[in-house]
Amino acid sequence: MTQEFDHTPVMVAEVVSMLEPVPAGVLVDATVGGGGHAAALLAAFAEHELVGVDADEAAVAESTERLSRFGDRARVVKARFDELAVVVRALAPGRPVAGVLFDLGVSSPQLDRPERGFSYRFDGPLDMRMDRSRGATAADLVNTLGVAELTRLFADNGEGRFARPLAEGIVASRPIGTTSRLVQVIERSLPGVARKRAGHPAKRVFQALRIEVNEELDVLAAGLESALGMLAPGGRCVVLSYHSGEDRLVKQRFMRAASGGCVCPADLPCVCGAVGTVRVLTRGARLPSAAETARNPRAASARLRAAERLLMRAS
Ligand SMILES: C[S@@+](CC[C@H](N)C(=O)[O-])C[C@H]1O[C@@H](n2cnc3c(N)ncnc32)[C@H](O)[C@@H]1O
Repeated sequence: MTQEFDHTPVMVAEVVSMLEPVPAGVLVDATVGGGGHAAALLAAFAEHELVGVDADEAAVAESTERLSRFGDRARVVKARFDELAVVVRALAPGRPVAGVLFDLGVSSPQLDRPERGFSYRFDGPLDMRMDRSRGATAADLVNTLGVAELTRLFADNGEGRFARPLAEGIVASRPIGTTSRLVQVIERSLPGVARKRAGHPAKRVFQALRIEVNEELDVLAAGLESALGMLAPGGRCVVLSYHSGEDRLVKQRFMRAASGGCVCPADLPCVCGAVGTVRVLTRGARLPSAAETARNPRAASARLRAAERLLMRAS
């Protein structure tokens, strides 16, 4: 294993038990990272093979090495998870897809390596791309978006009434090329009352920029669509989210798949002909245990949701 890649996978036992009842076939780890969940799944389910996907080539290198002990039961490829359908068709043609796991967000090595530019705790270039071979960096965004666009970005990520002063402060301080310079600008732009909130004052701004740089919500919607579409009957989709916007999107997408998009009033029988394709397995999101959060504080915001593909009735 490469020395510096150190990511503790979250809610591993819950993920494994959620995938326990699935039929034989391919498990897809759409965010394979350092391969922690993938290794646990391959060890737990000897009859399954696994396709691992990650947009970050450092993660692909790490998980390829870590999963090599499983031989040809594990294949890892660099791709974004909105490309899942193509990847799975190419790597496991004709095989039933038994499960798809999404463990969203960033890995500890991405956060902890200053040169990746994800963290407000270290000085580094303002990059934040998971896939460093494509797309705009966080520096591109803070140096080109207008006040209105930056305000919307920060407001959507929970900055509320502080979104506009932040956006104005950033626009007035351009160019901004490093994480520490951005932290300085944020601290200067926030009114005193905002600086007294819990957590680091730059936390939400960095998160908002990261989500935008990696188009995380749009890509997640497309990834979930592919995952739910490719599951074999009885197959399951399990998602770990770390941000309320992501969790809401997952919950809504699962509910829509369960109702088939039914538009009938909830208290009346369905007459619109919609047919659900999944059963939601988690009424409310499952949370990590207090013991896990104490051991691994990065697990604290995790929310697990899962859905199972139904056996389709012959028409
Ligand atoms: C929380 S980590 C996953 C850790 C992994 N479960 C493990 O056990 O090591 C999230 C991973 O998802 C990857 N990722 C995030 N968004 C992605 C996307 N849209 N497509 C592919 N990979 C993505 C990140 O690069 C990161 O490696």
